[in-house]
Amino acid sequence: MSVIPFGLKPRLERMAKDIDILFDTWLKVPSDSRARLYEAMRHAAIGGGKRLRPMLVVASSELFNVDRDRAMRVGFAVECIHVYSLIHDDLPCMDDDDLRRGRPTVHKAFDEATAVLAGDCLLALAFEILGEEATHPDAFVRAELMAELARASGPSGMGGGQMMDLAAEHQELDLPAVTRLQHLKTGALFAFCVEAGAIMARVPAEHRTHLRGYARDLGLAFQIADDLLDVEGDEEEAGKRLGKDAEAGKATFVSLLGVDRARQQADMLVQQAIDHLQSFGKEADTLRAIARFTIERTH
Ligand code: IPE
Ligand code: IPE
Ligand code: MG
Ligand code: MG
Ligand code: MG
Repeated sequence: MSVIPFGLKPRLERMAKDIDILFDTWLKVPSDSRARLYEAMRHAAIGGGKRLRPMLVVASSELFNVDRDRAMRVGFAVECIHVYSLIHDDLPCMDDDDLRRGRPTVHKAFDEATAVLAGDCLLALAFEILGEEATHPDAFVRAELMAELARASGPSGMGGGQMMDLAAEHQELDLPAVTRLQHLKTGALFAFCVEAGAIMARVPAEHRTHLRGYARDLGLAFQIADDLLDVEGDEEEAGKRLGKDAEAGKATFVSLLGVDRARQQADMLVQQAIDHLQSFGKEADTLRAIARFTIERTH
């Protein structure tokens, strides 16, 4: 059983329901030959996943009293990007996985071409959502959200990290190199989530340093936890195949440090992440709880 810090569990459950409703609303299946594409997007997106990234957006928005509906739209956009990245990550040309969130991966349940398109369309949908006026009345804020999410997802963020991750199968990487890879692959999207609240509240970039520090440490701890689960997790609980990193000869924190030191490193990063929130009071408690959950999770 997962250890979820007090108070976070009902919030994650509500988030899971709200995100499912949003996907259901945005992905109504049309009665033409695109139906298969929509079905594939729904298969990947609805029901499942921790919904941690939208939770981070809502939690960071609470620091600055940003309207929840607006924060939810931004969190939903990030979840679209995340689901797209999982569909493509599982493809035979990447990690070649057949199980995700306890269900067959999209290319298994449908086919590879449909999986590629489902991913592409979720990526596009994220920016459609951010661009709409309902996300924020200030067009400059919407533009900043779009630019920052694009940066976090592209070659200087997740996409670049995924390339480095593939290369890690054939290279000897040291700790600084793996750290950089993880910052790009996972950390960049986390950092966007944490800054999104500040962007929506028009907090100037120079006043977001502590939030960036929190996100940086959190993202790294999260990916170390994912790599630890890959080694010692339970497939049924994780809902995905495990043992894949070692099988592919991938350099991770766990392969470089061993399980015990990797866990110590993750614990230390979570404490460091929480320390970055010192200037906030109770309004940052959800961010603190998310940090603890990140390393205590079993899925
Ligand atoms: C898995 O992310 C992929 C990584 C970036 C490590 P999550 O662990 O957040 O996956 P879901 O959304 O809960 O399925
Ligand atoms: C994937 O990392 C990160 C993405 C950007 C999709 P992994 O390949 O380690 O994620 P899992 O373990 O398949 O969820
Ligand atoms: Mg991968
Ligand atoms: Mg993978
Ligand atoms: Mg993994």
